Amino acid sequence: MMEKTKKLANGIEMPRLGLGVWRVEDQAATDSVRWALATGYRLIDTAAIYKNETGVGEGIRQAGLAREDLFVTTKLWNSDQGYESTHQAFDASLKRLGLDYVDLYLIHWPVEGKFADSWKAMEEIYASGRAKAIGVSNFHQHHLEELMQTAKVKPMVDQIELHPTLTQEPLRNYLASEGIAVEAWSPLGQGTILKNETLVAIGKKYQKSAAQVIIRWHLQSDIIVIPKSVHEERIKENFDVFDFELTAEEMKQIDSLNIDERLGADPDHFDF
Ligand SMILES: NC(=O)c1ccc[n+]([C@@H]2O[C@H](COP(=O)([O-])OP(=O)(O)OC[C@H]3O[C@@H](n4cnc5c(N)ncnc54)[C@H](OP(=O)(O)O)[C@@H]3O)[C@@H](O)[C@H]2O)c1
Repeated sequence: MMEKTKKLANGIEMPRLGLGVWRVEDQAATDSVRWALATGYRLIDTAAIYKNETGVGEGIRQAGLAREDLFVTTKLWNSDQGYESTHQAFDASLKRLGLDYVDLYLIHWPVEGKFADSWKAMEEIYASGRAKAIGVSNFHQHHLEELMQTAKVKPMVDQIELHPTLTQEPLRNYLASEGIAVEAWSPLGQGTILKNETLVAIGKKYQKSAAQVIIRWHLQSDIIVIPKSVHEERIKENFDVFDFELTAEEMKQIDSLNIDERLGADPDHFDF
């Protein structure tokens, strides 16, 4: 049996499977979030830059679940990095979400020269209880090493691009050694790998789709996973992954699809 949550370094339980809402319009985010929460999802992953925190908050309210049963992540955008501006950006995110705390607040990208100051503000937000956990996104090992020279609190999560064609094994090993949870963004390769023959063939054996096989691979690899869909059927499909188990051999087959292929920017060379 797969545990539905993962214990972060500070003891907070984070759901292992959630809904991503990048490139989802504010209005559509309300529907997607409501469908996901009705399906059983408890983790929602948004960001200030997605411009849908208001819609996400509305979906949460419409679902009518107890706040403590939900896990909401949002992220600090690059142009808001810096000590004061991080505090302001966080307050603005909470306001748009209509929440009085988030479960996880992440630095979206490692903006050089700024992320250490941003982190100081994040530590204060964490100490205030308005973020139950704090972490980073798109940090390579060297970014984390730099951050930890000045950090008082170690990031609890690193959310990185990760899918069967970019398996990130060296970074995952480093994160595991540091007790930092790994969360995959674009876990389905943005839909580009759903016709892959290996994934389709493995799925046939279990009467599962390639998307379900990939999500299962993430879960069995101890990776927190946040597939995005704006379609109710797919949102349900992506959550229907707790009734089968990939064999060690199948896990290896999927690992071997790695070609170190990035769909997004390399965190060492981004211009936004
Ligand atoms: N931290 C970062 O820098 C960062 C960067 C990128 C993403 N993220 C987060 O990670 C989340 C997921 O990544 P992503 O949105 O880039 O891509 P993804 O989840 O890998 O793939 C989403 C794509 O796959 C399609 N899809 C989803 N489920 C499907 C299914 N069962 N069958 C067929 N197609 C399916 C979706 O289409 P439909 O929606 O049309 O169904 C969409 O086109 C984001 O939403 C965001 O929350 C974070």
